[in-house]
Amino acid sequence: MRFDGKVVCITGGTKGLGKAMAKAFLEEGAYVCVNGRTQENITKFLNEFQGQKVIALNADISNYEAMESMAAQVIATCGKIDILINNAGIVNPLRPAEKMKKEEFDTVIDVNIKGTFYATQAFGKKMIEQKKGRIVSIASQVALFGEKGFLPYAISKSALMLMTRALAYEWSKYGITLCAIAPGFIKGGMNEGLIKKEIFVDYLSKRTPIGRMANVDELVSVVLFLASVDAHYINGETIIMDGGITGYTQEPLIDFISKGKQ
Ligand SMILES: NC(=O)c1ccc[n+]([C@@H]2O[C@H](COP(=O)([O-])OP(=O)(O)OC[C@H]3O[C@@H](n4cnc5c(N)ncnc54)[C@H](OP(=O)(O)O)[C@@H]3O)[C@@H](O)[C@H]2O)c1
Repeated sequence: MRFDGKVVCITGGTKGLGKAMAKAFLEEGAYVCVNGRTQENITKFLNEFQGQKVIALNADISNYEAMESMAAQVIATCGKIDILINNAGIVNPLRPAEKMKKEEFDTVIDVNIKGTFYATQAFGKKMIEQKKGRIVSIASQVALFGEKGFLPYAISKSALMLMTRALAYEWSKYGITLCAIAPGFIKGGMNEGLIKKEIFVDYLSKRTPIGRMANVDELVSVVLFLASVDAHYINGETIIMDGGITGYTQEPLIDFISKGKQ
């Protein structure tokens, strides 16, 4: 098993994509720690994985002290931290930028940028002491191009990509490597509500060259690969996993020109 004896912390692993990652890491032999802010989800998680090597904590990543204490708790329980998956994240209510409310903007920045940094720093300090560690952050395709409605979310996810690059430079000398994933729209997690309506699934599928949304398992397998020794030399990089959506323009010049000739 790829993660036998490894200690993995997945922020926001109590539900959605993070929970699917937790299940996969457990199946591959890891000891898994997750956190979230909703006690009901934490209890559900603990019931679902009862008797397995799990810790589930009520801790908000945007609370600096909570992240310091979570890292300390993981070390006290497991003796080390091998892998941190920066998965916890929220999206803003979709609005044009000029209508975005201050608190909506601030909350996304507080959780996705500041919170992810607090978690990274708290666990990073432990990894520096160990002289070993791997950090994988979940960014998003919307960090790569402008999409109306997503401004704070897109800014926050592009910040994670830069943090990944910058820390790969700063921390590689301590044996810590980092990478990120920029996924497209996934059929699960925060899209759970949206995908109940076929019209949205069709819309998102048609926008994607591959012709469909990504399945949760497809993201999970990329996360596990990037967390594994097989991907060790991928450092500072963001892997785009979007079915090709960021790789094309809606109307290529050649098509526009040929329309003019008709
Ligand atoms: N689903 C997609 O299509 C998609 C695409 C690209 C990227 N992503 C990214 O993938 C990650 C997981 O998303 P998801 O779809 O699984 O979303 P989700 O179903 O909403 O789950 C988010 C998880 O993060 C936790 N969380 C949120 N804010 C937190 C905070 N401040 N402190 C601690 N935990 C917090 C949530 O628990 P509580 O609410 O209890 O805190 C929950 O466990 C996010 O970073 C998201 O941006 C998702």
